[in-house]
Amino acid sequence: MEVVPLDSVAEVAVLGADVLEAVVRERAGSAVLGLATGSTPVPTYRELIRRHEAGTGPSYDGVRCFTLDEYVGLPPGHPQSYRATIARELTDLVGIPAERVHGPDPTPDRLPTAGQRYEEALRAAGGVDVQVLGIGTDGHLAFNEPGSSLASLTRLKTLTEETRRDNARFFGSVDAVPRHVLTQGLGTILRARHLLLIATGPAKAAALAAAVEGPLTASCPASVLQTHPHVTVLADPEASAELERRDHYREVYAAKPAWQGL
Ligand code: F6R
Repeated sequence: MEVVPLDSVAEVAVLGADVLEAVVRERAGSAVLGLATGSTPVPTYRELIRRHEAGTGPSYDGVRCFTLDEYVGLPPGHPQSYRATIARELTDLVGIPAERVHGPDPTPDRLPTAGQRYEEALRAAGGVDVQVLGIGTDGHLAFNEPGSSLASLTRLKTLTEETRRDNARFFGSVDAVPRHVLTQGLGTILRARHLLLIATGPAKAAALAAAVEGPLTASCPASVLQTHPHVTVLADPEASAELERRDHYREVYAAKPAWQGL
C-alpha cells in the first residue's frame, strides 16, 4: 500500500485526477472506472471536469463506469440516488453517456438478483481498472459496514446509525436517509486492478489510521485494503493526522523514482 500524505485537498484532487486520466489514456477507449460518490471524490471529479473543459483532458469515448453502491427505497431519478449523483458530479460533464454508467439496480421487485447481476456486469466488462474509494467515519468501504465479510460480494446491506447520521446532510434529516443499500462487497472491490482511496478532513483521521496501520479486521472493513497488491491512499493533512508513520510515507513519496508512477 502506498500512502501519500499531501498538503491540501487541492493537491489530493490533482493527483487523484492524474491517476484516473492516466488509466483513461493508457486503456484508450476501453478503460473501466470504478466511481465512488459522497463528498470526498468531488474535488477530484471537479479537477477532471476542469481539464476536460480546458481541452487538456483525455477522450472519454468508450470509457465505462461502475459505481460502488446505491440506496434502496428512493424513487427513480431521486437527486440523491447515486446514479443521479455521479451523472451530475462527473459523467455527464465529461461526456460519458448514461448507458456507459452502471450501478447496482435498486428496483424493488428485482432486489433478490441485484447483487448477482451486478457481479456479472462487472465481470463482463473485464473488471475495474481503477476504483475510487472514500472511507466512512466507522471504517466502511463502499457501504460495507463494520462486521462485513472481507470476502463479500455485491449484496443488500443495512447502514449503521453513524453512517445515516453522516449522510443526513444530503437528505435534510437522518430519518430521510434510506436504511438499505446495495453495495459492492469487499471481495468485489478487491478484484479491481488499482484501488485509489481518498481521505480528507478531520472526521476521517481515526478511520484512516485504523485502515492503514491497524489490524486486518472486519471491524474496520477498509483494513481489507492491506491485502491488495496495488493501493494508493491520497490524504490531506487533517485525514493523515493520526498516521503513526506519516513522516515515513512522506519521505518515501518524496524519494520515489519517477518511473514507478502511482
Ligand atoms: C460512496 C461510498 C461511501 C463513501 C463514504 C465516505 O459511494 O461508497 O463509502 O465513500 O461514506 O463518504 P464521504 O465522502 O461523503 O465522506
